[in-house]
Amino acid sequence: MKFVSNIGWIHKRPTELQIDILNVENLVIVIPLDSVRAVIAGSSLEESIFNNRREEIGTMYLSSNGGALYLDVYCGEEVTSYSTPIRLVKAVIDNSAQKPISQIIEERDSTNNMPRHDYYSALCRYLSISGSSIDIRSQLEVYRKAAIKLISGYREGNLSNINYDDLDIQTAYMLCYFPSYIENVFQTLSFVDLEQLRDVFEGHLMVSLYGCGPAPDFLGLLAYINRHFRGEVSTIDPYFFERGGWEKWRDFCIGELAQNYCDGISINPHHCSFNLLECDRVEYLKSFNPVMDSNLHIFQNCATELFQATRRVDSVLAIFLNFIEVMKPGSIILINDFIGKGDSFKILLKLKKKLLEMNDIVLLDVKYNADEYSPEVIRHPEVNSVIDGWYREARKEPRKRVGFSYCIAKKC
Ligand SMILES: C[S@@+](CC[C@H](N)C(=O)[O-])C[C@H]1O[C@@H](n2cnc3c(N)ncnc32)[C@H](O)[C@@H]1O
Repeated sequence: MKFVSNIGWIHKRPTELQIDILNVENLVIVIPLDSVRAVIAGSSLEESIFNNRREEIGTMYLSSNGGALYLDVYCGEEVTSYSTPIRLVKAVIDNSAQKPISQIIEERDSTNNMPRHDYYSALCRYLSISGSSIDIRSQLEVYRKAAIKLISGYREGNLSNINYDDLDIQTAYMLCYFPSYIENVFQTLSFVDLEQLRDVFEGHLMVSLYGCGPAPDFLGLLAYINRHFRGEVSTIDPYFFERGGWEKWRDFCIGELAQNYCDGISINPHHCSFNLLECDRVEYLKSFNPVMDSNLHIFQNCATELFQATRRVDSVLAIFLNFIEVMKPGSIILINDFIGKGDSFKILLKLKKKLLEMNDIVLLDVKYNADEYSPEVIRHPEVNSVIDGWYREARKEPRKRVGFSYCIAKKC
């Protein structure tokens, strides 16, 4: 059993709880408050749950250890289960706070982990951070302000104040976020039937990574190739498309980290200055040959940024649809984004619906669009304790698990 975090929100209404499930369009679960109280108190083992037309759609019960409320929604033969800790339900009932709900996924292979890696030791060497615990704390202090600004910006969903050209912000990102984003591509590709990918991961691979920043997504891709297509991909030409400023950290990523994820493949990196916001014009896209020639297109953690910049889901969709229009037959588009307050769900769900209507596109994972994992990064006790302190200063719990939504499709 696997939980996928924050895919919905619970709200309190006068006589009922309303749960909006964000990864299923229009699914609203309504539960009478009296039923919730009865299940939590143990005076009822099971109660009905309803949709917003007050039709019964499933049941609600306590988990075996009594710590969580489970909601099973029936659709024909299929059951989709959602869960939320009892303490969150109580917080909603007592003070009307909005709280998250998770989805339970049963059939994902939780043994398909990435190899564990010692990211922080490599980063400390690169930053010349060493010595006693006190030395490490004082050497990291210089990044504290930037880290708190970054964490607070993401927590508030306000990315407009984040200047990715600021070198301290970049280092803070490498400390606090980069290791959490190495696996998304590995995980997403792992949900796809290998046969659908075989012609892409063969011989020479040309991959474009957009809004890639320091390119953690490239490492996840290498780890996936190493696991499933070792010896079949001989060379990779990654095209790193960015608005600017991350070259130093991409050099670190390729020079210091890449060999831990995949050996025996020669990598010829290309850095391209590029503005995703201009991709609402197909002519702009067509002026970049790799966009039309790549076998694989990866957009990681930039959909929410585009939404923040444009404020319209349709504007973000128009950008992705232009890519789909110009990409070559047989190539794959993979979009993933961190789970925030629902923006990435909304965007990717709507995109998925549009792709389902297109004759020349095959969705490679129709059933799900979210996942969660614990990053396989070895903890560095001193560094991680400083980072945990920064999270708390920014009024956020240190991150243990990474949740993301995704969409992956192939052009015929
Ligand atoms: C949250 S970071 C994600 C970086 C990387 N993909 C990752 O997963 O760690 C968002 C990135 O999108 C880039 N970005 C945002 N808007 C962009 C635009 N209009 N054109 C190109 N890149 C953009 C930013 O510069 C930044 O590097």
